[in-house]
Order: sequence, then structure tokens, then C-alpha cells
Amino acid sequence: MDLYEYQARDLFEKYEVPVLPGIVAETPEEVRAAAEKLGGVVVVKAQVKTGGRGKAGGVKVAKTPDEAEEAAKAILGLDIKGHVVKRVMVAGGARIAQEFYFSVLLDRANRSYLSLTSVEGGMEIEVLAVEKPEALARIEVDPIAGIDIAKAREIAEAANFPAELVDKVADVFVKLYAVYTGEDATLVEVNPLVLTEEGDIIALDGKVSLDENASFRHADHAALEDTAAEDPLELKAKENDLNYVKLDGEVGIIGNGAGLVMSTLDVVAYAGEAHGGVKPANFLDIGGGASAAVMAAGLDVILGDSQVKSVFVNVFGGITACDAVANGIVDALGILGDTATKPLVVRLDGNKVDEGRAILQAANHPLITLAATMDEGADKAAELASR
Ligand SMILES: Nc1ncnc2c1ncn2[C@@H]1O[C@H](COP(=O)(O)OP(=O)(O)OP(=O)(O)O)[C@@H](O)[C@H]1O
Ligand SMILES: [Mg+2]
Repeated sequence: MDLYEYQARDLFEKYEVPVLPGIVAETPEEVRAAAEKLGGVVVVKAQVKTGGRGKAGGVKVAKTPDEAEEAAKAILGLDIKGHVVKRVMVAGGARIAQEFYFSVLLDRANRSYLSLTSVEGGMEIEVLAVEKPEALARIEVDPIAGIDIAKAREIAEAANFPAELVDKVADVFVKLYAVYTGEDATLVEVNPLVLTEEGDIIALDGKVSLDENASFRHADHAALEDTAAEDPLELKAKENDLNYVKLDGEVGIIGNGAGLVMSTLDVVAYAGEAHGGVKPANFLDIGGGASAAVMAAGLDVILGDSQVKSVFVNVFGGITACDAVANGIVDALGILGDTATKPLVVRLDGNKVDEGRAILQAANHPLITLAATMDEGADKAAELASR
């Protein structure tokens, strides 16, 4: 889960990383009030989960509350790479002497952590990495040892921080690493980390990604989720603990096991080429225990997608045998009643396949078509979706 800058700022504050005050606001009037409260120069910053806000006009300096209000009018509603700005953060203004870059992240390829640091911050790090790779210090961080003050000094020296700044920035690196481990993050990035005219080191921007696999350890992380910005179908799926990803097609897909579902997507996309180019509408893995309740929840999510014209249920019976899945489908259609209106192509195979097929045949539901193979089912579902 990626956090907004203001949420990252709050986490930084909790770990005593030096930050400036920030107030979240949603209207120009609120921005004016926030600027009055903070006093002096403020910076109005778009809160969207994408980079390059500054370049897109989403970060504006305001010397007075009037200017802050004007800045808010320009920024609220702005479209930054497809993200419409609904909120801004009014931050205290820093007098910047120098901008640096620091991040620590999960390095999957090396099964380790990696810190990236540069004394040339501010600009996009992707550009710096390509155009001036020597200006970016890449230091591996042993997950067991972490970043203690000695390691932090090593990082600062590798990045060529001037000697008089090494201790100051190292102290901030240690605190940022505490955020990284303490919150189970996969990324903590500060760009820019600045040296002010007053000689202070301050994190002026923060990007934090949290590891959702660790959310059971952090009851407070649920509150950081921005459910309003999520796709409503994905949200509904999440509430039902379903592994669902919305795609841009017409054939709804339900399967068990991520591998089977992914190959089903491929087979449906291929079959769709012969039927006017219809495509899979989603990824949905209902997992091992394909009970009626889970099947109903899955069908309910998929049928709620107005783009869906047909549904392909592709299940390989294992521990949960095909007869249980077939009963699940029949019961699910019973639960959904009139809300189920789209044709269902069902392919069952594996444990107790004959019993499963017999159950579906006996049910003789007008929406269900049985398919003998995965290819046949994909073709039938694609054809139904193209009608
Ligand atoms: N509180 C502040 N006081 C003074 N200047 C600021 C402040 N916040 C940001 N700036 C200036 O604006 C620039 C851009 O701000 P920021 O890094 O937050 O956004 P961005 O980098 O454009 O967005 P993103 O990091 O999402 O790509 C900074 O490099 C800094 O020069
Ligand atoms: Mg930035």
C-alpha cells in the first residue's frame, strides 16, 4: 500500500524524523485558514499517489494566505498523470540551501535491503540513475544488522556528503530506517531531504510503501487506506477476502488457484480473437475452499461489473472436489436470484468431476452451459460475450 505524502510525514514525525508542520485541506478556504495558522511562507502541495507533482504544477509556494488560497484554486481538481487532486497539504516553507536524496527499499533480487543516496536530490531519481549513475550511492543494507549510526555514516560518506554534514544526515538516516522496519515498509524515500539556510536537515517530501503482508502486526494501518479512491469492485472483493483484479474486458473469470486463473486469462484472450476481440474482464482466484458463499461472493463481484457480458468458471477439483464446487455454483445462483442475469460457462475437471457435472445437469439452470474442456469453455464464453 502506497501512502500519501501527508501520511508519510505523520509517520516520520512519529519516529522523530525532522519534518515541517503540515495541514491537510480540501477547499481553498481551508487552505487559507491553514496558511494563517502556520504563518509565514507556506507551500501548497497536491496529495496524489504519483511522482512529478512539482513539474505538473502541483506544488506552489505562497507568501501570504491570499496566495495560498489562489494556489489551492489552481491545484485542487488538477489532473496529474490521471490522478485528480482532491486534497492538498499546506506545509511550512523551508529556506532550502541544498537538496539531497535518500531511500531504503526492499531489494527482492538480492534478498536484501538497499539504500540509495545522493547529494544531488530534488530531480527525478530515475533520471539521475540513468544520466549520472556515479552520483547515486547504492549501498546494500543487511536486514539483520540494519542501519545503525556507523552504517548511516558509511552511506553518507559513500554519497559524498561534506564532512561537516555526515553526522547530521546519518542521524536522520537511522530514524528513517526505524520508520522502514518499525512500520514494515518496503520503501521509504525522501526527495528532497534538504539542508536549510539555518543549517537543519529536514525531510521535505516522503514516499512510503507499506507491506500489506504485515498488516496483521499494524492495526493502525487500516486507517491509512484510502477506500474512496479504490475501485469499488476491488473494494468489494477485498471485503470478501477475494483475490480480484479488475481488467478491461467482457468475459468475467472465476477459477481456483492463481496459476489456473492466469492461464484461463490467456486462453480466453486467445479465444476472444475469433469473437470480435473480447477479452477477460478480471482475475479472480477463489482459492481452495470454493464454498457456495465464496462462489456467490465472487459471482456477485463479477456480475457487478457492467462491462461483463458472460462468465467463465474454470475449476480444477482438488481438496475441494467438483461436486462441492457444483453445489456452490447452484447455491450461489440461488443466493443471487434475479441479480444473476449473465450466462455462465462452467468447466469442471479433477476430483469427482462426474458427480459435479451431474449436479449441474440436474440443476438445469437456464444461465449455465457446461463445457468439457478449458478451450471449449473459453470459446463458448467469448462467443456469448460477443453477442
Ligand atoms: N515545504 C517546502 N518548503 C520549501 N520548498 C519546498 C517544500 N516542499 C517542496 N518544496 C520544493 O518543491 C520541490 C518539489 O516538491 P516535492 O519533492 O514535494 O514534490 P515532487 O518531487 O515534485 O513530487 P514527487 O516527489 O511526487 O515527484 C522540492 O524539490 C522543493 O524544492
Ligand atoms: Mg519529491
